[in-house]
Amino acid sequence: MNLRRGRFATAIAAVATSAAVAGGVYAAGGPKDEAALEPARPAASKNVEKRVDALLRKMTTEEKLQQVQLLSDGQMNEEGGARGDREAKAGVGGVFSLVDPVKINHFQKVAVEQSRLGIPILFAYDTIHGFRTIFPIPLATGSSFDPDVASEDHKIGARESAAVGLKQIYSPMVDVSHEPRWGRISEAAGEDPYLNSVMAAARVKGAQGRDYSASDKVVTSVKHYAAYGQPEAGRDYNTTDMSEQRLRNLYLPPFKAAVDAGADTAMCSFNAINGVPGCANKRLETDILKKEWRFDGFIESDYTAVAELLNHGTAASPADAGAQALNAGTDSEMVSTFIRDNGKQLLAQRKISMARLDDAVRRILRVKFRAGLFENPYVDVAKAEAAQEQPEALAAARKAGGRSMVLLENDGKVLPLDPSKKTAVIGPLADNAKDMVGPWWGRGDDSKKVTVLDGIRAQSPGATYAEGCKLPGNEPPQYDESEDCPTTDFTEAKAVAGAADQVVVAVGETRAHSGEAAARSVLDLPGNQEQLIEAIKSTGKPFVVVLFNGRPLTLDGVVGVAPAILEAWFPGVQAGNSVADVVFGKVNPGGKLPVSFPRRVGQVPIYYNHEPTGRPCDVTQKYVSRHRDIKSCDPQYVFGYGLSYSQFEVTNLRLSRTSVSSRGSLNASVDVRNVAGPAGDEVVQLYLNDPVASISQPVRRLRGFERVTLSPGEQRTVTFKIDRSDFGFYDNSGRFVVEPGRIDLYAGNSSKATMRQSFTVTGG
Ligand code: BGC
Repeated sequence: MNLRRGRFATAIAAVATSAAVAGGVYAAGGPKDEAALEPARPAASKNVEKRVDALLRKMTTEEKLQQVQLLSDGQMNEEGGARGDREAKAGVGGVFSLVDPVKINHFQKVAVEQSRLGIPILFAYDTIHGFRTIFPIPLATGSSFDPDVASEDHKIGARESAAVGLKQIYSPMVDVSHEPRWGRISEAAGEDPYLNSVMAAARVKGAQGRDYSASDKVVTSVKHYAAYGQPEAGRDYNTTDMSEQRLRNLYLPPFKAAVDAGADTAMCSFNAINGVPGCANKRLETDILKKEWRFDGFIESDYTAVAELLNHGTAASPADAGAQALNAGTDSEMVSTFIRDNGKQLLAQRKISMARLDDAVRRILRVKFRAGLFENPYVDVAKAEAAQEQPEALAAARKAGGRSMVLLENDGKVLPLDPSKKTAVIGPLADNAKDMVGPWWGRGDDSKKVTVLDGIRAQSPGATYAEGCKLPGNEPPQYDESEDCPTTDFTEAKAVAGAADQVVVAVGETRAHSGEAAARSVLDLPGNQEQLIEAIKSTGKPFVVVLFNGRPLTLDGVVGVAPAILEAWFPGVQAGNSVADVVFGKVNPGGKLPVSFPRRVGQVPIYYNHEPTGRPCDVTQKYVSRHRDIKSCDPQYVFGYGLSYSQFEVTNLRLSRTSVSSRGSLNASVDVRNVAGPAGDEVVQLYLNDPVASISQPVRRLRGFERVTLSPGEQRTVTFKIDRSDFGFYDNSGRFVVEPGRIDLYAGNSSKATMRQSFTVTGG
């Protein structure tokens, strides 16, 4: 049996063939099963607290101000590294993006041996989906609906990072987003808070294990706190304005899940929320994260986010910005040096307090002690390289790639292709290694990457190739999208396709089209790639379009043209092998979309978990909530959608009771059966709707899922446990409420599931 929730599932009595309690583990109100969620951090230790206090007592004000400073590799390397030596000697708290183990050891030695108190530096890096062994982008991992994929990704990322001397990673990124124009939608698990919560917790546990002082573990930093995923117009860093209930119900739960899973550091975000920038936001940082959620680790600012308080217009001077950030709860300042530079003056003027500075330092030292840095400050340089890209890590990345792909179309069962036939591989991303690792490639550029062409040729020897057009994906300052696939002369591509039996067309975005500072105002395939697809169609050969992209695309010009479409996202260093595994049927695709794909960019934001309106969309009516120029109320592809080479049936939704007290729970069970085709995976999904509540509730909310592997004809039962954390919600005063009344549950294999059962919540 392979019910993919791993340690979060609690087996209960078998019904039919087997059953497991899934679902409902991560809640708006917090995880329901604290015991199952033992955090991935060493137990709060008195010993650590004593050591922190003893050290803090010895520190001068200058040393405390050094400890709250976080510098980049570039800053440390200034003046041929002389600045770095000075900073280390003065007792700088943290350094990020330095990945050379020799340099790390060097600066660490200066800090430990030459600074007055010998406090080690915490070295950090953006290991977002791999260090050297790059896994699929996190949006793709979201598609896997498999927390084991996320956990394995971070287990390997932590091992490879720790091997070079890093002890903190700026991950997981858990920004729920309804904004496909935003390039950073690629970095988290999409539009749903529940899915993001499950993936976030899995990443934290994978990276930290039970004790992140272990030599192959690192402490995680959950980011970007908060609501960074909803910038106006999708432009990175832009303003966010939202109600309390949305913030609490949609955007905060994955942060809470990461903290509950043990994340001991967090990063405050660039954006202002309701006019207050993330790194000067006392309510978010101190009131919610530190007090309400009892987070005792530290918060670092995002890159120059403290200095940016000047641009935000909330601070009048660097000193003012430093004071705002520290007073709000930011404990560590990245790149800019406003707290350090102005700290003494601010203390003298009583604009910051020594108590607050001590609190920030205490939090940083606590994490350093928990990380075992005082005992083991150095890395074994001789072993650093051997830990990278181990065969088992590459195998895991390949598997993750396959599990993350989503089959969008398969008319006439074009897929799987027959590897013994003559295969042509066409497209600007076909013989492309660079873009396969996506927009956060870590040290993936030092890795050997498998292109689509490599992967296809390995399984279908002699496959032919034509590029079709070039896709430079220019970086700024050019940003010239007119250079993306500019030609319409596809003569060679047509000839190569025409001479083959079957064609794989590799198109999409480059890694520069998504990620940080890469908002797009159009979501179509860049350049003339749609025309390239038309040209391949004109050859009459069976073909599949394999998409590589870091966001939902508008595929109006592809759907109905291409008989088969496979969403591959950016699969990582094993991209080509993962694609070939799916295209030739070694792997039966089972991923589902973690985000809606709009038909046109004008529909944005369009997401499954929206509230109802007084005039629901109806394309036959005028005075309803719709676009007059779109003949559908839906996106092109809905959240949770994805096909397989097999056919599944999800039936027989039943509840263990039809009435439950506000503190009680019930089980919802469904049967899932592989009715046709080979062994494969189905993701059983459970959605909830509260049809009448004091404030309008989303029409659907995902509250449980389970990816199940079924052999031909096999049937299983999946059981989800539902309680107040599922049927309650936050109101606009920030209170978690459970209201009496009817609750509807829907089960199926996408957010369009129609099978329904209801129960009643009694009491308040
Ligand atoms: C990004 C963060 C990242 C930091 C350090 C910033 O620009 O927003 O996600 O962790 O840089 O690299």
